[in-house]
Amino acid sequence: MYDLIVLGGGPAGYLGAERAAHAGLSTLLFEKKSLGGVCLNEGCIPSKALLNSAKIYEHARDAKKYGVVVPEAKIDQKAVVARRGKVVKTLVSGVGSKMKAAGVTVVMESAVIKGRCDGGFEVEAAGQVYQAKKLLVCVGSSAVVPPIPGVRENLGEFVVTNREVLELPEIPENFVIIGGGVIGLEMAAYYCTAGSHVTVVEMLDHIAGPTDREISTILQKEYAKKGVDFQLGTKVVAVEPGKVVCEKDGKTIEFAADKVLLSIGRRANTQGVGLENIGVEMNRGVIVTDNQGRTNVEGVYAAGDCIGKVMLAHTAYRESEVAVNTMTGKRDTMRYNANPSVIYTHPEVASVGMTEEEAKAAGVEYEVKKLSMRYSGRFVAENEGEDGLCKILVNKAHRNILGVHMIGNSSSEAIWGAAAMIESGLRVADAKEIIFPHPTVSEIIREVIWEFKD
Ligand code: NAI
Repeated sequence: MYDLIVLGGGPAGYLGAERAAHAGLSTLLFEKKSLGGVCLNEGCIPSKALLNSAKIYEHARDAKKYGVVVPEAKIDQKAVVARRGKVVKTLVSGVGSKMKAAGVTVVMESAVIKGRCDGGFEVEAAGQVYQAKKLLVCVGSSAVVPPIPGVRENLGEFVVTNREVLELPEIPENFVIIGGGVIGLEMAAYYCTAGSHVTVVEMLDHIAGPTDREISTILQKEYAKKGVDFQLGTKVVAVEPGKVVCEKDGKTIEFAADKVLLSIGRRANTQGVGLENIGVEMNRGVIVTDNQGRTNVEGVYAAGDCIGKVMLAHTAYRESEVAVNTMTGKRDTMRYNANPSVIYTHPEVASVGMTEEEAKAAGVEYEVKKLSMRYSGRFVAENEGEDGLCKILVNKAHRNILGVHMIGNSSSEAIWGAAAMIESGLRVADAKEIIFPHPTVSEIIREVIWEFKD
């Protein structure tokens, strides 16, 4: 009998398995497809490979602005897709090596929880039964496929999800993206730069979901300038060969489409895992956990997208660490107030903590200060003709930092520092004492902090 069986080898699963093995638990990890899960195989990593090609292309195309002569820049889609595959392969094998080094037993099969046994639980995979004292369920999520006529029938070919969109052999001429959330925007960024005419159809009156509204408005304007057609407050009613039919303000409108990306959110993969065989409590398809990663069944833990709190890989890492710490008797708690998020568009968007909208809704009295990214010397030196914003919210009475929201390149690499400030409850006066490296784009955070009174 193993000490722990981990179901799912995505970020929550592989990191949880590694931490558990390092803590001395004999650990077995099941993965049915490929180690690394959605993040590594068809999400975070391959999309960044594509977006980096777009960034390099833009730099080459606009090289003249920087005094560099490039005769002709163009995107070779097949080569971009091939490189993406190479990056994924390298990292997947890296996860395998990590599991081996940690002493985790990996079984590449689909596993189902069968029930309880003396002292633990039984899990079946490929006709074989395995036992463990504890379970960590990290089964992830998949793209929501709505019952819109024409969507399911055309799935995989004409209508694609986060998976296929990363390996299209050709750049579609007319590309319609359903859903203006993170996946929709990142793919709009890549395909519009690569030459598609991109239309983003979004049901809400704004893009980028919970992102600070001032920031998401700037992002929308930037991509509108680059040619993306944003159709907000628009509902898709049907997908037909060559077009997407929508409703807007009571009128029917159609958009020509050679490809359609479905990116309207994700749902937990909790079906067919056997959770019901041991009575794990669920709520609207997600596993109910407390802030220690415990489910209602003693000895059964869950982390990552399948618990449906914040569907981000880095959140999943931390959730599984908390679960493993809890099962090994180390006190730990999951907190979501300093959870950074990034949209890897060009310009990048990076946020952590409360937005103005959230602070208002929660009745928190706050002060806000903001500066153009052009207050950063490094930003000006490296981003010819571009701008951005850094905006910080501070609690009016306590003076602690509540939220940091940035748009502008390199903000993804600076935001963890802001997360550290929020996580440690730093007040304005404390944050002013931090020395930032010069010249870096991160200095914009320091500049904005100095706009506040202590
Ligand atoms: P999302 O939840 O970010 O956005 C979905 C969007 O679709 C929302 O704006 C919603 O209003 C809209 N929508 C829903 N139904 C619609 C309909 N019928 N017609 C038009 N619009 C509709 O979901 P998304 O983009 O699919 O991403 C899934 C998950 O993956 C998210 O949890 C996201 O955080 C994560 N992710 C994170 C990335 C990052 O951190 N950079 C990158 C990619 C994905």
